[in-house]
Amino acid sequence: MGQYRDTYDRWKRDPEGFWADAARAIVWSKPHDKVLAEVDGVARWFVGAECNTCWNALDRHVAEGRGEQLALIYDSAMLGKVKRFTYRELLDKVATFAGVLARRGVTKGDRVIIYMPMVPQAAVAMLACARLGAIHSVVFGGFAANELATRIDDAKPKLIVSASCGLEPGRVIAYKPLLDKAIELSAHKPSACIVMQREALSCDLIPGRDFDWAEEMEKARAAGAKPACVAIAATDPLYVLYTSGTTGKPKGVVRDNGGHMVALKWSMKNVYGINPGEVFWAASDVGWVVGHSYIVYAPLLQGCTTILFEGKPVGTPDAGTFWRVIAEHGVKALFTAPTAFRAIKKEDPKAELVRNYDLSKFETLFLAGERGDPDTIQWAERALGVPVIDHWWQTESGWPMAANPMGIEPLPVKYGSPTVAMPGYDIQVVDEAAKPVPAGTTGAIVVKLPLPPGCLPTLWQNDEGFHDSYLADFPGFYKTADAGYLDADGYLYVMSRTDDIINVAGHRLSTGGMEEVLAGHPDVAECAVIGVADAMKGQVPVGFLVVNKGVNRPMAEIEKEAVALVRDKIGPVAAFMTAVVVQRLPKTRSGKILRGTMRKIADGEAWTTPATIDDPMILNEIGEALSGAGYAKKG
Ligand code: COA
Ligand code: AMP
Repeated sequence: MGQYRDTYDRWKRDPEGFWADAARAIVWSKPHDKVLAEVDGVARWFVGAECNTCWNALDRHVAEGRGEQLALIYDSAMLGKVKRFTYRELLDKVATFAGVLARRGVTKGDRVIIYMPMVPQAAVAMLACARLGAIHSVVFGGFAANELATRIDDAKPKLIVSASCGLEPGRVIAYKPLLDKAIELSAHKPSACIVMQREALSCDLIPGRDFDWAEEMEKARAAGAKPACVAIAATDPLYVLYTSGTTGKPKGVVRDNGGHMVALKWSMKNVYGINPGEVFWAASDVGWVVGHSYIVYAPLLQGCTTILFEGKPVGTPDAGTFWRVIAEHGVKALFTAPTAFRAIKKEDPKAELVRNYDLSKFETLFLAGERGDPDTIQWAERALGVPVIDHWWQTESGWPMAANPMGIEPLPVKYGSPTVAMPGYDIQVVDEAAKPVPAGTTGAIVVKLPLPPGCLPTLWQNDEGFHDSYLADFPGFYKTADAGYLDADGYLYVMSRTDDIINVAGHRLSTGGMEEVLAGHPDVAECAVIGVADAMKGQVPVGFLVVNKGVNRPMAEIEKEAVALVRDKIGPVAAFMTAVVVQRLPKTRSGKILRGTMRKIADGEAWTTPATIDDPMILNEIGEALSGAGYAKKG
């Protein structure tokens, strides 16, 4: 552990010196006055500095001689098409689209919502916002109109960038009706929408509000509108990314410009072991934090070639797609969620398709987004013959909190652990009184304040919410809302969430949000949603409904409507497929629903009847309802 330990200790001795050193890798238009300003636990990094994220991601590389190197490869397994962009070409597109935005009145500090499938235009739009100092907010395409509307009302975008459709296996998803519906539902109305028309399905544009991407680009080009990068404060927001909180209202995680660049660039070399000129692939979606950090920003800041993949690990066309992409583009490291590998393993258990491809340039597989289960990790190690690295982080941190730092020194892998704390993170496991617990004891995983560069400084226009969600429970610490333990060697084990967030196919979802939707069904008196273990997706939501007295139509009908309601209000990404009507919900005498016990029953884990339960018989009823729905039951 020598080199890792030295690096970590160097950070701990002098955090400001450590990050000031890392900041030298970034081009600043004005240097910082202060490395860190900390007020009430809120860290602001590189105060006084000015910079531009787009300059560091694109312009600087062209200026430094990387113009002809590939910056981005768009590989669409859905279309069977590959399109390559050099740094010079990508810069041209981004600067032109910045011209489009500027001509539509977007300036520094304005918000722009990007609701797009996995097309290069999504990355172009993000970088164009960064160029102008506008704040983008990307919304994942699998969310329904209602979710988009909530984000529109919170971010109040001047403009929305979207596309006519997305492509899912076997079906074309029309985005435009979802966009129109969202704007209809939201109180805030954007002044314009720029819509990219895709061949698979074009859409009508509303005159005066909607504008065609290609035509707008042509006009900006003809007008020579290619705005230069705007110098902005390091502490100004680059983006807002909404993530599930404990209620139906998502939290707008704010990312700044300066600290974000410093942290991401540091992570590319030190965590992922990637040098400029190498090919890095994060098989995620630009709608998630992994897509923001490791499809778009980090690889470009590092002068790498990044891959933007439109497809699935299986079925597009087969379970060899990932190996095809790695071989064809010379990928050095792949980052994805364990669920993708579980999907591949199910289709091709002996990994026979790997043999069809030359993976000689491939060195490391990184997994995050959910716990890397030992079975999946060992299967991937055998299939690929490379190190498989579990690492842990969240939307709020923006980059790994715990990892095996491949660029510093590969540490021995302990299955089930994302390894050790990265510099910047003093990770501790504490009890309810915020007192550290002994090694091996499970507790709340917290990070000692201040948080390092790259982590959220606040929630969008909601400092109070930030404080309440993350700082209030454990004074002096940031609450990750994960639970787990540290072993005697300092290896972290992340076992579960402490809130009602569940992880479905690596996607973070709120069961509370689903309950809010189900409670809106006219026949539902009360409900509970729990995350149940699923062999492929990690977890899937299951809903329990108690219907109003006097409702006498088939319960199966209500269950079906409940499933459709969640799909309609939250989106297909919720993967909400099971709702069961029960007579009553198990509660404590003070009225708290016993979701934890219900989950144990569903997962077939050992469970005991809580002493505070109102009526123990109800748990048997839940067990019966679950086995009726195909879930295990054990006492
Ligand atoms: N737009 C519209 N719909 C979308 C969508 C998008 N961008 N993304 C997913 N959906 C839909 C899917 O088509 C599916 O619809 P269905 O219920 O009609 O089948 C539903 O949302 C659920 O999607 P998902 O949970 O992703 O399941 P899946 O069966 O489509 O794919 C995996 C499962 C494991 C292959 C896929 O989730 C995956 O590749 N995950 C790993 C990578 C990843 O995304 N990680 C996230 C962060 S690292
Ligand atoms: P998200 O904000 O969507 O990235 O989700 C973050 C959450 O996913 C974390 O708080 C964890 O609960 C979970 N998570 C992410 N990576 C891991 C990991 N490597 N091991 C265990 N849980 C993880």
